[in-house]
Amino acid sequence: MKILVTGGLGFIGSHTVVELLNNNYEVIIVDNLYNSQIDVLDKIKQITGKDVKFYKEDVCDKQALEKIFKENEIDSVIHFAGYKAVGESCQKPLMYYRNNLMSTINLLEVMNENNVKSFIFSSSATIYGDPGTPKYVEKMGRGKTSNPYGTTKAMIEEILEDLYKSDNTWKISILRYFNPTGAHSSGLIGESPNGIPNNLMPYILKVASGELEVLNIFGNDYPTPDGTGIRDYIHVVDVAKGHVSALNKIVNSNSGVYVYNLGSGKGVSVLELVNTFERVNNVKVNYRIADRRPGDLAEYYADPTKALNELGWKAEKTVEDICRDSWNFMKNNKN
Ligand code: NAD
Ligand code: UD1
Repeated sequence: MKILVTGGLGFIGSHTVVELLNNNYEVIIVDNLYNSQIDVLDKIKQITGKDVKFYKEDVCDKQALEKIFKENEIDSVIHFAGYKAVGESCQKPLMYYRNNLMSTINLLEVMNENNVKSFIFSSSATIYGDPGTPKYVEKMGRGKTSNPYGTTKAMIEEILEDLYKSDNTWKISILRYFNPTGAHSSGLIGESPNGIPNNLMPYILKVASGELEVLNIFGNDYPTPDGTGIRDYIHVVDVAKGHVSALNKIVNSNSGVYVYNLGSGKGVSVLELVNTFERVNNVKVNYRIADRRPGDLAEYYADPTKALNELGWKAEKTVEDICRDSWNFMKNNKN
């Protein structure tokens, strides 16, 4: 089977491509390299020993997509391409709405024209908003999103539901990721954000390596056991495997819209993550307690039961694995 992976050179996309190749899927990547490097393609080949067809194109360019569909007999699409920085999305909302919505609408239109109706979408736990309980379960539905990035995800989920209502031959899987982090155990692929990172693990890595001086822990007065914020950190390889499970499911199921949380189900505090990182890697992370970050919730984590029951998927890797693999990738890619 041939799978088109948009954004396949990015953080989660590249790990998913590796798992798809390991499961004998044929993969075609389209990525405009906005937030990734071309050498990831070689790294994927090094890890898997397999070739991948690559198009450097923008998914917002419909003609480019039409050409890709003409040149390849695509069976399914996994759509990762999009912008993802929460803070930037508040400063440049139009850029986020244009890229995330246009790329998706173009893709769905070209799929429709080519009668390819099997689609997996990268959504986020952010679509739950603030439901008032820390354990998020799919049946809660969407809440009020707190930033334009999150709103693009909620809007795309609605677009997909409307599309299915209009044509019930589509097979759609919406995967809501919690906090993907970690790296491939080879140390060849991982996450390398440009500039000063916003997310916790990339920041820890820069402090541990001496690139940044100190980690600000945003608040230690939350109603959590140690006062710091709690999240569900999930290893990126587990997230990648979740896509293979979701793909196997929609290939072998009736049409429909299938929604799954991809999380470990375990809440881990900022301090617990920092302490685990120091312990497993035997390295110091300087930190200080700072003010709460506006918009942050105290605590949330996934109820991953539906993915286990229907996909047979669950997170296998531990927080220790996440810390070890992240640091290994950082050491291997200092430059
Ligand atoms: P990433 O930025 O590493 O990967 C996205 C890839 O898409 C990049 O390689 C980028 O160059 C490419 N891209 C962006 N716009 C494009 C366009 N118009 N045409 C072609 N390529 C384009 O991000 P990621 O962390 O791998 O996330 C993948 C997806 O998962 C995104 O949609 C993101 O919103 C979603 N998601 C990520 C997280 C997370 O914590 N990383 C959490 C929830 C959801
Ligand atoms: C954010 C986004 C989410 C996105 C995720 C990527 C929202 C509301 N949140 O989640 O959509 O999917 O990033 O993984 O849209 N922290 C510090 N110091 C730092 C950085 C973070 O203490 O320098 C704390 C935060 O306060 C939080 C935890 O670490 O408690 C995790 O933060 P972060 O990695 O930014 O992810 P989220 O905010 O959970």
